[in-house]
Amino acid sequence: MDAVQQVFKGTFIHSTARCACEVKENHILGTGKDGKILFFEDAHTQSRLAQKWGFDESNIQALGKNEFFMPGMIDTHIHAPQYTFIGTGMERPLLEWLAHTTFPIEDTFSDIENARNKYSAVVRRTLRNGTTTACYFATIHTDASIVLADTANQYGQRAFIGKICMDHNDTYQKYKETTEESIRETKRFVEVLKKKKYDRVKPIITPRFAISCSERLLNELGKLADENDLHIQSHISECPAEIKEVLRLFPSYKNYTEVYNRNKLLTNKTVMAHGCYLTNEELDIFRERGAAVSHCPNSNISLCSGHLDVRNVLNHRVKVGLGTDVAGGYSISLLDAIRKSIETSKILFMERSKNDWDTNDLESLQKGNMTPNGINRGAENIPITPEKNPNVLSYKDAFRLATLGGSEALSIDHMTGNFEVGKEFDALLINPDAKDSHFEVFSHIPKEEILQKFLYLGDDRNIKAVYVAGRRVVPFPSSF
Ligand code: GUN
Ligand code: ZN
Repeated sequence: MDAVQQVFKGTFIHSTARCACEVKENHILGTGKDGKILFFEDAHTQSRLAQKWGFDESNIQALGKNEFFMPGMIDTHIHAPQYTFIGTGMERPLLEWLAHTTFPIEDTFSDIENARNKYSAVVRRTLRNGTTTACYFATIHTDASIVLADTANQYGQRAFIGKICMDHNDTYQKYKETTEESIRETKRFVEVLKKKKYDRVKPIITPRFAISCSERLLNELGKLADENDLHIQSHISECPAEIKEVLRLFPSYKNYTEVYNRNKLLTNKTVMAHGCYLTNEELDIFRERGAAVSHCPNSNISLCSGHLDVRNVLNHRVKVGLGTDVAGGYSISLLDAIRKSIETSKILFMERSKNDWDTNDLESLQKGNMTPNGINRGAENIPITPEKNPNVLSYKDAFRLATLGGSEALSIDHMTGNFEVGKEFDALLINPDAKDSHFEVFSHIPKEEILQKFLYLGDDRNIKAVYVAGRRVVPFPSSF
């Protein structure tokens, strides 16, 4: 095997532009030394492929009966230091939660040893749960943010690392930088990471959100991103109190989106978290700029922020990925984000259909009043089933958001997101029959249904191996 590094045979499930859930049974996939997919074909072409690429049967790794490969999941929004307090402190709304819980803990990352321990825990935990790409917020501390980059690189995770910028913080004065410091340190951060030349770990410009940045800082960060062609991330329109404060602080701007847009922070390499309250007019600006939304449903519910209508965002042809938003969201797993994104869309559906009928309809129905054509009066207004409603996300839609959608949101879909030839092999080997699995596959059911069971009921116990760019990164090497 010269050019071919690994060959796998079995079932592969992924999303494509046309199909949210394409099942390829009895397929054969080969990766090269650079981690890229060299071929992906029906296994009946095996002998031709073997001849062309110089491998034989003994080189093929065959998958077990119910096993399948799916693309690695992409967390488009996660706060690495907040892993420290994940699963606690969920009683407050966003702005109070930041001041009371988040800022004091993030401030402890001035201590490099603390950062090293916590960052190694979060990278290990995300990888084990199938996050092959993570778009991280770190803290305001440059050296600790570099530790996060080193850690992701060491473990082989694909990652964007954001040193947070904030020169304004009325609620926890200790945790902020001066404007000059923030600009200088961000430039240093970018330079250090450039010099390290990590293949898959890159810096991302990270103004925390408009409330914590002066106009000058936003403007300088926009220029820096533009000059260096860098990715950008922040938060937008997460909850009403935040939007009110942004409009108070930036009275000359028409809306929240304009604050970022006019400062060159909305580009086709921008991903903005939440966006629950973006208006259609603002979504149009996102589309014009090619900017993406990171949908973080767990956080939106946990902090009582709101619900994002993903379908409306997609209908505006704005790119969408999923985010855990740890620790506003209490789960590190994108499987949870998949479930909550479906549930959020169902909640929105139920709320809306409830507006179409009222208690009179229900009372009328209960009394058995008939219409002239024999239908229970009221029944005609009771909601249609969710499957028939295109606004409800299916598990296939959510699967796409967690994989291909995430890669599009981060503008890395030419590199990863599915199993197209030429992309890097970022993949999860799923074993539905794993020891202690939380679900069973009882009989011969379609592969799609096995995927569905895994998305709804699976966890890291079912993730037998994780690959990033062809390299197996989970289970961890014994040296780690
Ligand atoms: N807005 C500004 N900072 C944060 C943060 O850390 N988490 C969330 N969910 N929203 C934010
Ligand atoms: Zn966030």
